[in-house]
Amino acid sequence: MQNEIYLEHSIHIMAVTGLLLTSVLVLLLTYFIRLLWRWTKMPPGPWGVPLIGYIPWMDPIAPWENYTSLSRKYGPVMSVNLCGTLQIILNDCDAVSEGLSMMAFIDRPHFLLLDVISATGKGLVGNSKIWHENRTFVMKSLKSFGVGRASLETLVANEVVSLIDSYKANNLGKPMAIDGRLDVAVLNIVWKLATNKQTSLTDEKAIRMIQNRRKFGEYVNQLGPAQFFPSLITFVPKFRRLMKAAKELSPELTDEFKREIEEHKALHKGNVPHMPQDVTDDYISERIRRGAINPQDAEPFSDEHLSAVITGLFAAGTETVATTLRYSFILLAQYRDVQNKCQEELDEIVGKDRLPSWEHDKPRLPYLEATVKEIQRFADVIPLGVPHFASADTEFRGYLIPKGAWIVSNLNAVHRDPKHWTDPEAFDPTRFLESGKLVKKQNPSFLPFGAGKRRCLGEQLAYMEVFIFISYLLANFNIEFPKGFVPNMKGNHGDPIARRPAPFEIILTER
Ligand code: HEM
Repeated sequence: MQNEIYLEHSIHIMAVTGLLLTSVLVLLLTYFIRLLWRWTKMPPGPWGVPLIGYIPWMDPIAPWENYTSLSRKYGPVMSVNLCGTLQIILNDCDAVSEGLSMMAFIDRPHFLLLDVISATGKGLVGNSKIWHENRTFVMKSLKSFGVGRASLETLVANEVVSLIDSYKANNLGKPMAIDGRLDVAVLNIVWKLATNKQTSLTDEKAIRMIQNRRKFGEYVNQLGPAQFFPSLITFVPKFRRLMKAAKELSPELTDEFKREIEEHKALHKGNVPHMPQDVTDDYISERIRRGAINPQDAEPFSDEHLSAVITGLFAAGTETVATTLRYSFILLAQYRDVQNKCQEELDEIVGKDRLPSWEHDKPRLPYLEATVKEIQRFADVIPLGVPHFASADTEFRGYLIPKGAWIVSNLNAVHRDPKHWTDPEAFDPTRFLESGKLVKKQNPSFLPFGAGKRRCLGEQLAYMEVFIFISYLLANFNIEFPKGFVPNMKGNHGDPIARRPAPFEIILTER
């Protein structure tokens, strides 16, 4: 009898265990089938190894070079797994324009470069309502201070003239590196708009701020793939040291921005909005106006968001323009025929007694303008754009893009796409000309400022700056390399977003 009970009990246990095991197996099978089904629906891409994905094959500081060569095999939309972060790489202009205009891909992911300076998720770097309200307001504010209008020319021109005077006084005829004076000249333009302040080109504090921002980017860049795998940073001593060094630099930058905010707040005595002098002022006035009607409406305009706005303008508005100008020096020295043709055009249209004007002369300087555009295409300062993020599972071009994937615009491939550019590796401004005039219809594969609703907010300002700097420099100087110098256009000496050329020297002679 006891044996029978024991047998019955064992059979019962076995049945339950079997049922449990079968359920677990069915669940696992369903999970893997679903995973496989999702995987087959995802864009094609290279295999990787477990955990770290495709990392071992990536160039840590010039990943766009890997992506561009992979794009030849996998096409305009591909997926690459980096340490478990799925990267959807958009490799041609149609995919970039289409992808970046989708609302499901409008957000930005968390990424280290911004996380460390506490800007992720705030102000212009934020998402949804925060980003939208801040972007709309900052664009309106910049416009009210002249961005997009010819009246801004004087602000830009004054900085270029100071820089030219400084080069003439100190550097003519001998090899010189493009030092911090260029960066301060560029910073002064965006800083005047953001805070109504400017400084001398040799101001130590301004130069230190720029150097700190640069060093900070370089440290983050050296982390390479560890940027996608934060736990690696904790365990690998080299990465820990780099992270510590980067973190030590960030307070100096953020403290400066906080000081600016406090100074501006002091101008709004009794919380009364006043006639704004700059974007920071305008922002605080807007907060006061909104708060008076409904305190909740003022929330997207807090000090934290303002600090991120100033950080965004400083970070996005200085390094990008200064780097484009550094590449301009290199390319104009390297391609002397292009430099000569720009100067001939300037001499013929503007003459030698005055400087070119953005408003009146630019439309009559097609070769110069084509050169500016070709520098932007060729130099490719932001080769992988600024990453976006899939906020929901989304169908894109028949593929499944899973929630959480990064959306990366491979502007390097866009700017070298043989379907849109003849001989893309050649530096040739005439590709933007037709019968000696600037081609009216923009080549769709020219996207230096990105695309879609989140495209560069400073595009008009940046373009004006680059045009005025280059035209004034060429009107004043001949630019050449020291004898025997061979420039290096490859690689990246900047940060994970904006690539910078290796150090170089040039010689300026007065024309
Ligand atoms: C030649 C110089 C510049 C280049 C090549 C450049 C390029 C870009 C690119 C590719 C993006 C990413 C767009 C996207 O997400 O798809 C971007 C974003 C941005 N740029 Fe620029 N930029 C330049 C100058 C400037 C300047 C002068 C400013 C400031 C006044 C600025 C402010 C910004 C901001 C705030 C964003 C983020 C916009 C957002 O998320 O809504 N940029 N830029």
